Amino acid sequence: MEASVAAKSLIKIAAISGSLRQGSYNRGLIRSAIEISKAIGGIQIEYIDISPLPMLNTDLESDGTFPPAVEAFRQKIREADSVLFASPEYNYSITAPLKNAVDWASRPPNVWADKCAAIVSAGGGFGGGRSQYHLRQVGVFLDLHFINKPEFFLNAFQPPAKFDSNGDLIDEESKERLKQVLLSLQAFTLRLKGKC
Ligand SMILES: Cc1cc2nc3c(=O)[nH]c(=O)nc-3n(C[C@H](O)[C@H](O)[C@H](O)COP(=O)(O)O)c2cc1C
Repeated sequence: MEASVAAKSLIKIAAISGSLRQGSYNRGLIRSAIEISKAIGGIQIEYIDISPLPMLNTDLESDGTFPPAVEAFRQKIREADSVLFASPEYNYSITAPLKNAVDWASRPPNVWADKCAAIVSAGGGFGGGRSQYHLRQVGVFLDLHFINKPEFFLNAFQPPAKFDSNGDLIDEESKERLKQVLLSLQAFTLRLKGKC
C-alpha cells in the first residue's frame, strides 16, 4: 500500500538544455540537478537531448505524424509530469535550439499543456535571466505552468569559478539554490496533480 502511494507520488521531470555545447554550463546544471534529486526523493529527472531535432519545417509533418526524432522527443515530454529548462540567453532571448524544441512539441496536440515547469539559467552578466521572461511568455500560450520562485540565474563567468573545466557545477551555494528550485517544482507539481 505504502509502495503504491509512493509510486503515485513519484514525479517525472524532463530536463532540457537550451545549449548544445559539449561543455555547456546549463547542461552542467542539469547534471547537478540529477545528483541533487537523488537526495530529495520522489522526483526522477531525465535529461532529454534536443540536438537530434531537425529545424522546424511543417513540410516534415504528414497526417499528424512527425519525423522519428520529433516523435521520440514529443513522447518524452508526454510522459513527464513537469519540465526543467536550463538555458543561457542568446542575444537577450531564448536560444534557437530551445525555441525549436518548444515549437515542435507545441504542434497539435500540444504536449506541453498542463505541465509544471521551472527555468534555471547560467550565462553572462544577467545569468541568462532575460531569456527566462521570454520563455515564460511563450509558456502562456502553451499552458505551461511555471513556478515563480525561487528564481535561479547564475553568472557563469564571475569569479570564483562556478563550474569546472567539464562544465560541472562546483559552487555549493548554487547547488543549494538549485535544490530549492527542485523542491518548489516538486511541491507545485504535486499540487497541480492533486496529490497533496
Ligand atoms: C549566439 C550567442 C548569443 C549570446 N548572447 C548572450 C546574451 O545575450 N547574454 C548573455 O549573458 N550571454 C550571451 N551569450 C553567451 C552565453 O551566455 C555563454 O556562451 C554561455 O556559456 C552559454 O551557456 P552554455 O555554457 O550552457 O553553453 C551568447 C552566446 C552565443 C553563442
